[in-house]
Amino acid sequence: MSEIFEAYMIDRGANEALEAGLMRRAVRELGSSGVLIRVSFSSLNYKDALAARGAAGIVKRFPHVPGIDAAGRLVDDHEAPPVLVTGYGLGTEIWGGWGDYVRVPPEWVHTIPAGLTMREAMILGTAGLTAALSVEALLQAGVNAAGGEILVTGATGGVGTMAIMLLARLGFTVVARTRKPAQEAYLRSLGAAAILPLAADDETTTGKALSKARFAGAIDTVGGPILAGVLKEIAYGGAVATCGMAAGTRFEGSVFPFILRGVKLLGIDSVQCPRAVRETLWTRLATTWKPADLAVAARAIDRQGLGSAITEMLAGGRTGRTLVVLDPDEARSSPQE
Ligand SMILES: NC(=O)c1ccc[n+]([C@@H]2O[C@H](COP(=O)([O-])OP(=O)(O)OC[C@H]3O[C@@H](n4cnc5c(N)ncnc54)[C@H](OP(=O)(O)O)[C@@H]3O)[C@@H](O)[C@H]2O)c1
Repeated sequence: MSEIFEAYMIDRGANEALEAGLMRRAVRELGSSGVLIRVSFSSLNYKDALAARGAAGIVKRFPHVPGIDAAGRLVDDHEAPPVLVTGYGLGTEIWGGWGDYVRVPPEWVHTIPAGLTMREAMILGTAGLTAALSVEALLQAGVNAAGGEILVTGATGGVGTMAIMLLARLGFTVVARTRKPAQEAYLRSLGAAAILPLAADDETTTGKALSKARFAGAIDTVGGPILAGVLKEIAYGGAVATCGMAAGTRFEGSVFPFILRGVKLLGIDSVQCPRAVRETLWTRLATTWKPADLAVAARAIDRQGLGSAITEMLAGGRTGRTLVVLDPDEARSSPQE
């Protein structure tokens, strides 16, 4: 094992200016406690894009390696099956998956279940786990496939894409709300039955306290005024799983969806969610919930491509999941599907 590794890092340079790019570091800088993993694949999540721009509240100290997802092999046990880490403090509290190696507490490490390759585990990544948590929350709230249409917002994004695929796999009728109507063919290929373009002056985001009760449930990945609009469109007894904030952290609304239609608002957290819940959902993602063709939802880049991908993501312009390949040898031997 090399004592030096490469990582996409951010640091504060002269005058506190943010510097970002590929840098070489010593493996010993990862510390000595915990499990050392040779990372083969990571991914790009919205939180990573914020971290890569040095967002206060995500990056605890500099220099820093972003990457809240990692899949790879245990350095000290070559016979062990491949593993994954998502969330906890990876890529936030400690150096993350955009480095050749991560060292993490053992309780953060999950064996990739049979039925998923490392590549597929990272196409899913935090986005797939978040979508699975959202679907599970809707099911637990009594929303089922026979109950009517389900709305997914931020539909072309990572979580949105995964949510559409999982819901379609489970037989739900999915309506995709997007700012990118030109991606209709892509959204239909994921399993969306209908596309609702989001206009800047969309009446669901303004005006009356309630709109037509169209949807049995929703997964909102966007937050802000989009979430406020979604709540108005949920039918009696329905539920909204909310996980995102790309359009803002605050939203205005009234109590009417809750007190006149009994609508439930369900908070989703993939970062600290309990280990047992993760185990259950990763097993489902590898088996009964596994989309038929995960590869259609992802583009692969290497770390040289991260800079432009981050810019595009923060502008809301990216589509689907971005797989980050760290180990080209592993990528060549890991099947596409
Ligand atoms: N709670 C959790 O545990 C958890 C886990 C993962 C992610 N998240 C959050 O979920 C959100 C999505 O994450 P992601 O990784 O899927 O990001 P992403 O790939 O960038 O997707 C976000 C999507 O939201 C839409 N969007 C972006 N900016 C918008 C705006 N200003 N107004 C309206 N729509 C906008 C776009 O979809 P369209 O163009 O199709 O509308 C975009 O593709 C982020 O806020 C992220 O922080 C939370």
